[in-house]
Amino acid sequence: MNDLEKYVISHSTPRKEALEWIVRQTHLRTKFPHMLAGFEAGKLLETFSMMLRPRRILELGTFTGYSSVCLAAGLPEEGRLDAVEINDELEDVIREGYRMAGIEGKVRLLFGDCKTVIPSLEEVYDLVYIDANKREYPEYLSLIMGDSPVGGAPKVRSGSWIIADNVLWDGKILGDSPKGDPQSRGIASFNDLVAADPRLENFILPLRDGLNTARVL
Ligand SMILES: C[S@@+](CC[C@H](N)C(=O)[O-])C[C@H]1O[C@@H](n2cnc3c(N)ncnc32)[C@H](O)[C@@H]1O
Repeated sequence: MNDLEKYVISHSTPRKEALEWIVRQTHLRTKFPHMLAGFEAGKLLETFSMMLRPRRILELGTFTGYSSVCLAAGLPEEGRLDAVEINDELEDVIREGYRMAGIEGKVRLLFGDCKTVIPSLEEVYDLVYIDANKREYPEYLSLIMGDSPVGGAPKVRSGSWIIADNVLWDGKILGDSPKGDPQSRGIASFNDLVAADPRLENFILPLRDGLNTARVL
């Protein structure tokens, strides 16, 4: 962490105790703590949620629940977060974290592959957060927007927001043929699709690994 990042953290409201707990448990119980959203991206999700006050949120890629807790910050009493995660071995830590954060009654945890779970969803979401398999971002977008023949109705409406994490992929999306690895290809294609879609208005926020924030027109 550089000095500027330390300054940002020391001059921002500290994160909730439940998030501190999730970070500790993620280091203790998983091999991939780098997958956590982290302080800045988490705070941004929390801020978005507080500003938008979404009633329905869809999270793709829950991992140990850090981003769920941030996203749920602005849910009203009757609001709900649908959290999709493929790895059911994470269930205990996810549910414990939700309990600590007091959001267990507001989250529906759905284990499975986003590509099969999304078409089964009947909700229309105010906010969709994409953070699962980077290779599959274009497919998730197509399913969410209702463009896929297998995806059923759109999962968003005019005024919904779609936020995708890691869209700068450590700079690997740059260059003439960035796309040497499948993750970079997936993300580059996703960013191209979002930028070209007349139904979306977006901005890539260069925070940490990049967040593509798009509003459905
Ligand atoms: C970067 S991590 C998510 C981090 C989490 N959003 C956070 O900020 O704490 C990506 C997660 O997506 C899950 N995942 C990968 N491919 C998936 C798929 N096809 N469907 C559902 N989950 C998937 C992985 O198991 C992993 O837990």
